[in-house]
Amino acid sequence: MGPLQPRWTIKSDVSTRPRLRRQVVIKLRRIFKLTRCLPAQSKQSIRSQPIPEPVKGHVQVRVEAAAFNPVDYKVLLSQIYDNYPHPFVQKFPTVLGWDAAGKVTKIGPDVTNFKVGDRVAFLCMPVFDGGKTHGERGAFQQYALADIRLAAKIPGTADYDSASSFPVGGNTAAAALYSQLKFTAPWLAGEGAYKGEKIVILGGSSSVGSYAIQLAALSGFEVITTSSPAHFDYLKSLGASAVIDRSATDVAAQILAAADGPVKYVVDSISLPPTQLFGVEILQPKGSLVLVTRIQPPTKEAADAKEITLLGTVGSAGLYFSEPFWNSIKGLVERGVLKFNRPTVLPGGLRAWEEGFELHRQGKVSGTKLVIRPQETK
Ligand SMILES: NC(=O)c1ccc[n+]([C@@H]2O[C@H](COP(=O)([O-])OP(=O)(O)OC[C@H]3O[C@@H](n4cnc5c(N)ncnc54)[C@H](OP(=O)(O)O)[C@@H]3O)[C@@H](O)[C@H]2O)c1
Repeated sequence: MGPLQPRWTIKSDVSTRPRLRRQVVIKLRRIFKLTRCLPAQSKQSIRSQPIPEPVKGHVQVRVEAAAFNPVDYKVLLSQIYDNYPHPFVQKFPTVLGWDAAGKVTKIGPDVTNFKVGDRVAFLCMPVFDGGKTHGERGAFQQYALADIRLAAKIPGTADYDSASSFPVGGNTAAAALYSQLKFTAPWLAGEGAYKGEKIVILGGSSSVGSYAIQLAALSGFEVITTSSPAHFDYLKSLGASAVIDRSATDVAAQILAAADGPVKYVVDSISLPPTQLFGVEILQPKGSLVLVTRIQPPTKEAADAKEITLLGTVGSAGLYFSEPFWNSIKGLVERGVLKFNRPTVLPGGLRAWEEGFELHRQGKVSGTKLVIRPQETK
């Protein structure tokens, strides 16, 4: 039997204390300590709390859309399995959520490059600081503080639902290509610089994969990717030159045919144990493989045998702190060379939190980004 998955019970509880300004946040309470062989129980509750005042380097944002990521449920699993290296959530209750978009409502004391009314998408930092700012930085609330080092302005033509898909997926894709593989970034005069070179992006229909395809294409790469057939046309519209059915029995042979042989670079946007090994298989000796989850021991063994460089975007390595990158997003979207993910909005505002987590946990998200609209919470 595999490891037991957590089971959640939800108890929503709306508090409307009149002296507090109306703001709804989701809090998670771990109601009993878990062992590795017992199912977990946590609960969701909705509460009001004062709107946070922006601090140095931050702006206050009215969150219009918050997107889900696999990391949302994984950080909770990290409380359950004691072999996880990082207990992300160190203090409950907490406010989760890493991806958000909305309008700037106040700016911090030293902020000069954002103003009230700017439309932004931002990467939330809910749990990296050990719990000091849990109530202020998570995406799943109606107002949040955005770190301006991880925020992009978005054009008026972009809707908040789609834009909220960008920060985590786009940032991870950029970290893979320009921080880990060290390509010269398009926003640093590297646009089209890699014409004639090939790269394989495994899992192109994932959020990370779809942003990696677009950025690699902008860099000039010929992009070969994998997905379910339902997404072939979509991924070609993002710039992939070949899309291979990830379930085909001869998927490796098809990739090698499309790439004219083993490739030098693979970004594994999925990084499950089998895709990690598959990445090693299709690489040429001394090639480079970027992973977005922890490197598995069999991957390391197989990579060492081919002298392949393994690179990772886990934890802080997945954060691409680059002002030119975040500043370039609005222009890239306006030019039509960067498209935000296709969103699926779950009705119910913050109350759809559990549904979003479950769909990710069960692997039921395909070629879309799940989004909730905190302001629609009743
Ligand atoms: N290191 C970091 O900083 C970082 C940041 C973000 C995400 N991640 C990790 O990156 C992974 C992807 O995250 P995400 O948000 O992009 O995921 P996502 O959008 O939820 O991924 C869903 C997609 O995964 C595809 N998929 C599932 N299994 C696959 C396989 N074996 N081969 C190819 N495609 C497969 C599905 O493709 P089809 O529907 O086409 O079959 C589906 O479209 C997760 O493990 C996440 O935790 C890491």
